[in-house]
Amino acid sequence: MDLLIRNANLPDGKKGIDIAIEGGRIAATGPALSAQGEREIDASGCLVTPPFVDAHFHMDATLSYGLPRVNQSGTLLEGIALWGELKPHLTQEALIERALQYCDWAVARGLLAIRSHVDICDDRLLAVEALLEVKRRVAPYLDLQLVAFPQDGLLRSPTALANLKRAIAMGVDVVGGIPHFERTMADGAESVRILCEFAAEKGLRVDMHCDESDDPHSRHIETLAAQTHRLGLHGRVAGSHLTSMHSMDNYYVSKLLPLMKESGVAAIANPLINITLQGRHDTYPKRRGMTRVPELMAAGIDVAFGHDCVMDPWYSLGSGDMLEVAHMGLHVAQMTGQQAMRACFAAVTETPARILGLDGYGLAPGCHADLVVLDAGDAVEAIRLRAARRHVVRRGKVVAEAPPAVSRLDLPGRPSQVDFRLAGLATQNR
Ligand code: FE2
Repeated sequence: MDLLIRNANLPDGKKGIDIAIEGGRIAATGPALSAQGEREIDASGCLVTPPFVDAHFHMDATLSYGLPRVNQSGTLLEGIALWGELKPHLTQEALIERALQYCDWAVARGLLAIRSHVDICDDRLLAVEALLEVKRRVAPYLDLQLVAFPQDGLLRSPTALANLKRAIAMGVDVVGGIPHFERTMADGAESVRILCEFAAEKGLRVDMHCDESDDPHSRHIETLAAQTHRLGLHGRVAGSHLTSMHSMDNYYVSKLLPLMKESGVAAIANPLINITLQGRHDTYPKRRGMTRVPELMAAGIDVAFGHDCVMDPWYSLGSGDMLEVAHMGLHVAQMTGQQAMRACFAAVTETPARILGLDGYGLAPGCHADLVVLDAGDAVEAIRLRAARRHVVRRGKVVAEAPPAVSRLDLPGRPSQVDFRLAGLATQNR
């Protein structure tokens, strides 16, 4: 075997599992495999998981924080205006350099698949060309899926539809949209219809920024679900953000959730961003501005957490750590039960993998040998500690490593180092 991971804990709760890897694929899993590996990793007490997946990101804007200025109001709309100021000054070289740097961060964090929106409202399609180049360059170590995103509105921006079609012809994978940014609710609905019909005609997936506002009457997710159902796009469509659902009338939501389930539309919440951008017009009480994650999950709808932004016009922090995303999502959604916390871990691993349609994802024999050894015993501890990624493996090769996070302590009568893991105790206390 090329690589053998010994004695791992798995996300499903199994313990003491060996994982044998050959030719970039998982060859076998089970307790105490007799095979020998050219390299062996002792994963005793560590969670081994398929890689993190980010279902929602903006790689064309990432690491541009402060260019040309910072967002003073902290609102979505100032962020969009700021991005508009920056766009004419973008160069392909700088875009590629920033994106590649972010991908380095991602790999070091065990994040090996990203769905990134790319703005197609610049007639030069500079960002599209740059991110297609980045996609080619990172392909050996990271799956980058691109969404053609009409940031300035499909109908508001006169060349957006033509540009979107050009971007798809150039190799962009997914059809995007932003109905709540069109001039009227009716225009928003019309944009959803046009985009879904185009996706159906081309056999493509759809992922729209949808109802990213605090307006309780924003209804584009309803239209997206209805169009998905009408066109038979079940399982290929995601609604991103859906923050208006937070503010909607409960009776209306009780009708909306079954419609989303029926049409197989997935939901992508972006907790770090929506907890900071939404509710900005409120005094007190301030709305949390994240979509109804536990209720969507309870209705059987796939829900992923996305990072959305890292150091850009909308968000000044972040480092590509999907455990930080899960941590924030868990808090905002008040998902503190054991099963709920595990669902938050799934929302940054297996669920987004399903939404992206990733091929060969998982730890079963035959899957790609892509995995992360975490310095944590289980998914809950991984979120609690934003655990160190001890080893990140892509196609059977170790591509990133980090030491365990241990602090040295110098206190009289106390141990010489701090162990945040409380090995065994957390389980006993449950
Ligand atoms: Fe977004």
